[in-house]
Amino acid sequence: MLVSETEGITLQATVPAGLDRKEAEIYLRLDPARLPKHIAIIMDGNGRWARKRHLPRVAGHRAGVTSVRYVVECASRIGIPSLTLYAFSEENWKRRPKTEVEFLMKLLARYLKQEVPTLHKNNVRLQYIGRLHELPAFVQEKMEWARQETSRNTGMILTLALNYSARSELVDAFHSVIRAAANNGGIEHLQIDEETISRHLYTRHLADPDLVIRTSGEMRLSNFLLWQLAYAEIYVTPTLWPEFRGVHLLEGIAEYQTRERRYGGLNEAQSARGLRS
Ligand code: FPP
Repeated sequence: MLVSETEGITLQATVPAGLDRKEAEIYLRLDPARLPKHIAIIMDGNGRWARKRHLPRVAGHRAGVTSVRYVVECASRIGIPSLTLYAFSEENWKRRPKTEVEFLMKLLARYLKQEVPTLHKNNVRLQYIGRLHELPAFVQEKMEWARQETSRNTGMILTLALNYSARSELVDAFHSVIRAAANNGGIEHLQIDEETISRHLYTRHLADPDLVIRTSGEMRLSNFLLWQLAYAEIYVTPTLWPEFRGVHLLEGIAEYQTRERRYGGLNEAQSARGLRS
């Protein structure tokens, strides 16, 4: 059991139910009071995982679904309020073979059908961001069904980014701002600030992510949550997505807790020096 002193109060970290031994070991190194409130993950490396095993790319995507299950369970067990997963980008549609896109659609529909009991067990509420109306009808139906089924859960919000592009999200937000103004007395009184734009993003119900994780070692944001990640800590791991498990998530959180978040300001020592000089 980890014991730490915070302003004279002794905190004892207990391990949340359901963590395995390795996860518990890392969890005990964390400060439970400073867990990220929102984690976003760019799941990458399914194709490379499959190639290393001389398997077709789709086998990597299938294995990636298992990682989704582990990561969702681990995040909800340790009490992360929001988890957002970049499942399909808008670019994926345009640049991947039709057969792979069709496979991904069927995989997503199957995931939604199979996963609802596990989401319930973990009290997870499911939602989506992206240009959802462009997805095939059979996927949209399953999405709506799974969303409604989990809508009364009160724990972690799991958001799947599907047919998502951050630039398209901004374009949609600007259209939405103008439409709202036109319906509210005309655009000549329109005032735009950061708060206005945030309110018109797909993520308007979510806090901005504190931590963004990218698997498979690539150092890019790939058009993911560009507005919302302005102050997020970035953690890149060489682990390929199909090998990513709860321990890797906890390692990312441990690294996050070593970072000093300054939001463009100074740290405490610098501020104190500044006051003296
Ligand atoms: C990136 O790997 C992954 C994707 C484009 C799809 C992500 C999908 C899953 C993890 C499975 C389905 C998810 C849900 C929520 C059901 P890549 O193919 O770009 O890998 P590579 O860069 O190694 O080729």
